[in-house]
Amino acid sequence: MPRYSERLLGLPDYPMAAIPAKKRELVARGVDVIDLGAGDADLAPPPAAVRRIAEAAANPAMSRYGFGLGLMEFRESVVRWMRGRFGLGFDPLKEIVPLLGSKEGIAHLALAYVNRGDVTIVPEPGYLSYLGGTLLSDGEPYVCALRRENDFLVDIDAIPRDVLKKARILYLNYPNNPTAAVAPLDYLERVVKLCRELDILLVYDNAYSEIAFDGYVPPSIFEVDGARDVAIEFHSVSKSYNMTGWRCGWAAGSLELVGPLAQVKTFVDTGNFMAVQAAAASALDSSAGFLPGNVAVFKERRDAAVAAFTECGFACTTPKATMYLWIPLPEHITSAEFAQFLIEEEGVVVMPGSNFGVGGEGYFRVSFVTSPERIREAAVRAGRVLTRLSVGA
Ligand SMILES: Cc1ncc(COP(=O)(O)O)c(C=O)c1O
Repeated sequence: MPRYSERLLGLPDYPMAAIPAKKRELVARGVDVIDLGAGDADLAPPPAAVRRIAEAAANPAMSRYGFGLGLMEFRESVVRWMRGRFGLGFDPLKEIVPLLGSKEGIAHLALAYVNRGDVTIVPEPGYLSYLGGTLLSDGEPYVCALRRENDFLVDIDAIPRDVLKKARILYLNYPNNPTAAVAPLDYLERVVKLCRELDILLVYDNAYSEIAFDGYVPPSIFEVDGARDVAIEFHSVSKSYNMTGWRCGWAAGSLELVGPLAQVKTFVDTGNFMAVQAAAASALDSSAGFLPGNVAVFKERRDAAVAAFTECGFACTTPKATMYLWIPLPEHITSAEFAQFLIEEEGVVVMPGSNFGVGGEGYFRVSFVTSPERIREAAVRAGRVLTRLSVGA
């Protein structure tokens, strides 16, 4: 039997991986499953994208390799979008890298920046590709706990100086998955200053930039002076445009910083399906007509989730952004135990906080991926499990 690499053996299990099989098993047993696990909404993509992919797929030229360049139209629509949304200019050829979903770029980036033993700063709880990308590059993650008392911001003052000096990458994600926290601009300014001082690459994961409520408008890291010297920002059509399965995103940043990612990718993939890029371009161009209505749907679900989970005995705070509620559990209940009971006894899928790293213990995450009625029903079932696990505690 050929042996596996230490790199592979060092990877933790990817928590989402087991959910589809578990769901199938429950559905086969006749359970009425409510899945609030993955951040993968049941909503339709922009009609312009759907029309466009059908038309583009009929064009044989679209079926050829896109290579790293991909479809010029996609790059140009990204640049228009970045200007319209943040007032920032980018060169479509040099400063944008098309990705097969932002996860792909985030996971591959460390290959361009991390040598064996180099440190990366990884927030926990957090999106697991920061950790995965680091481990696949033989780097050493320095895990930074996100705590409620610190508004779930990475406490850069608490990171030892010797760690900072060895750090090659700092991963930041606001609006944040899973905590739904947002980062004030003065905090981002402090982070950029630190990264400039120490030559740390700031990876700013902005996957939820368009899902925000109550007048909150998430910034781009490039709104901070000097960020172009140290930052790469990742975006995606997945969440904002309900296109998770289409696998399309991009990285933006100076040629010096994003060029190495494009170079790694020349050996890894040969570009995504150009019909998908064409459709993503149409989605981005339809933002003004599409996003407000889509965000209103997420807001209705958020409001339903906050009200229902609160009523059912949970302590919720109302998130300003993302499609998540990050809900604390009583101390005597572990998140894995709670999620396990909830799925087995009530058919409700949520993400236990420990799935996002040990720093996520004590919480569970609910995604706004189904209707308010189903979210309310899930909250009632979760409340029953909370009561059962609390009895006799
Ligand atoms: C914080 C964060 N970043 C990036 C992604 C990746 O999204 P995609 O690869 O679909 O663009 C996700 C998906 O859940 C996420 O939560």
